[in-house]
Amino acid sequence: MELLKNLEPGTGYQAWLGYPSIASDKSINEYMAYNRLHVTEDDEVIQTAVSELSRGLEGMLGVPPTQAVQVENAIVLGTIGGHPHVGLVFVEHQFEDIGPEGYFIWHDNENQSIVVGAATPSGVLYGTFHLLRVLRMGASLENLTLVERPANKLRMINQWDNMDGSVERGYAGTSIFYKDSRFSEDLGRVRDYARLLASVSVNAIVINNVNVHKVESKLITEFLPQVARLAAIFRAYAIKLFVSVNFASPIEIGGLSTADPLDPAVRQWWKDATAGIYQQIPDFGGFLVKADSEHRPGPFTYNRDHADGSNMLAEALKPFGGIVIWRCFVYNCKQDWRDRKTDRARAAYDHFKPLDGKFMDNVILQIKNGPIDFQVREPVSPLLGAMPSTNQVLELQITQEYTGQQRHVFYLIPQWKEILEFDTYAKGEGSTIKLAASGALHGNPLAGIAAVSNIGDDLNWTGHLLAQANLYGYGRLIWNPELTVDEITEEWIVLTFGHHEKLMATIKQILLSSSTIYESYTAPLGVGFMVTPHTHYGPDVDGYEYAMWGTYHYADWQGIGVDRTQATGTGYTSQYLGPNCERYESLVTCPDDLLLFFHHVPYTHILHSGKTVIQHIYDAHFEGAEQAAALVDLWADLSGTMEAGLHKQVTERLMEQAEHAKEWRDRINTYFYRKSGIADGLHRFIHL
Ligand code: GCU
Repeated sequence: MELLKNLEPGTGYQAWLGYPSIASDKSINEYMAYNRLHVTEDDEVIQTAVSELSRGLEGMLGVPPTQAVQVENAIVLGTIGGHPHVGLVFVEHQFEDIGPEGYFIWHDNENQSIVVGAATPSGVLYGTFHLLRVLRMGASLENLTLVERPANKLRMINQWDNMDGSVERGYAGTSIFYKDSRFSEDLGRVRDYARLLASVSVNAIVINNVNVHKVESKLITEFLPQVARLAAIFRAYAIKLFVSVNFASPIEIGGLSTADPLDPAVRQWWKDATAGIYQQIPDFGGFLVKADSEHRPGPFTYNRDHADGSNMLAEALKPFGGIVIWRCFVYNCKQDWRDRKTDRARAAYDHFKPLDGKFMDNVILQIKNGPIDFQVREPVSPLLGAMPSTNQVLELQITQEYTGQQRHVFYLIPQWKEILEFDTYAKGEGSTIKLAASGALHGNPLAGIAAVSNIGDDLNWTGHLLAQANLYGYGRLIWNPELTVDEITEEWIVLTFGHHEKLMATIKQILLSSSTIYESYTAPLGVGFMVTPHTHYGPDVDGYEYAMWGTYHYADWQGIGVDRTQATGTGYTSQYLGPNCERYESLVTCPDDLLLFFHHVPYTHILHSGKTVIQHIYDAHFEGAEQAAALVDLWADLSGTMEAGLHKQVTERLMEQAEHAKEWRDRINTYFYRKSGIADGLHRFIHL
């Protein structure tokens, strides 16, 4: 906390939680009338709400709030069951069902007070952050009535942090949790992160990478006291702590000779280890598991399936109310696709769909949004919504692994919105991903959304300042998927930079065009990859990481793309239901932006846009690079509208992006010119 106060403005450290003094006298006068807090509960999370509100009010109004003795002319915070006045207001006004984590914020005209009420302390905390947003946005409090409840029960962040301090796919410095195989001493930084997460309603965090090495395997044994310290920090912000576990732990740290999930000694080992965790962390959330994927151990070694593996852990967690989150990112990375029938995209569905109904009720399957791996554009995973009797969680990636690694600007909210609105047809029309993720589609008790974090120890958290919008937007969207992209974007801009017309218009334009621009100068028409193997940054059209012979796209002199049709290809399209299956199967109806994901076509194939594939490639790359360069000028025009430090940071990144976009353009265009031998219709200069 101290760190935050002492920082120079212009670092971006405060992110969207800065509370500069309010400029408008009218608003100051209005808000000052409520600068007293009426709180009767000493619950830890409610006290967090009080300190957040105090801090925000002090920043905005210049004076800290006082303690109110009466509810008149005050902000009243509390739970329905714990604060008599809040309870009374709730009963009198019959606010619609707010559930355990929802809240109401109500302006009481008679008493001239603002009541923030909820069923639980966490609801009070979320309501408090919402009230702070209202004040920061400069809205009037008169007649204010807000009633909210989250669409998703589990709203989770996955850290891919390793104990050596590195962050897998991290682009914002090193871990804030670990350094040199120990826990970081700077818990203030972790606390500030908890604030950021809670302010957008994240309620669960996994504190280590899904690839669990030997040292992190010990988080659930030797390092438990340190894990418990982190759990305490997050607990104060109503965030439950989870740990990624190594399926082979009984061997690696337990001294057993097997990790077979049906072996009684192995089962007992997990039960004992789990009991040990709950002794130190009574509200521990549970385990996240990556098994049988990319060299991670798993049940396949013992000829068991993923239900056997996850149920073993679920059984150990069950008595304590813990859950197992089991990832479906399971595929054989060594598979040979040269037969053009083998298909990594099929893997999750092929492995898991037959197991529907075999999982214990405290198991949740975590499914990436696409069937491959967080590409710039992929179809939605057909496994989402396809297992009615199994709990599922949607996995998104905030960290920009394939989307410019926080050196390029790529605003992810529009992409996530599209995913959430996608209709799976699992139960007929209207079976959207947002309903599948929330559990409402099939009535699953456990459900929600998880995402890989994009933060590190860079002062501005995310490396690229504009990447903060992805973390903010993630939280807002998973609380309420009905929010529009515009609403989320505008909120973030005001909270981060303040009110300014030109600033609003320009940053919005940059963010909203960013994904289209990036997509234009990178891999075309949904083909995916074309990035440097392993780093996943920068162009390498034929780059393939698992073997000498591999290719992700089958480009040759005649054409490009992966035939995933049932008629002539891998049959992947059959995993989709109803109209989706036909739409992707047919060249006539397959959308242009996914064409090369589903079909292998000649370069002369005519797109719906009227262009040939090859001309599209040239045009998109020339235009994309030009648009990336234009972002630099747009941003330059904002000089003087914000702290100089903030402006400078983004300028540097945008300049780098513009240069790199040229490299992408030249490498991709040259490659396809050489492959196809077809000249650019507009005779532009292509590097040779
Ligand atoms: C991708 C990513 C890996 C990560 C993996 C996963 O393959 O490149 O770094 O471990 O996804 O999601 O497990």
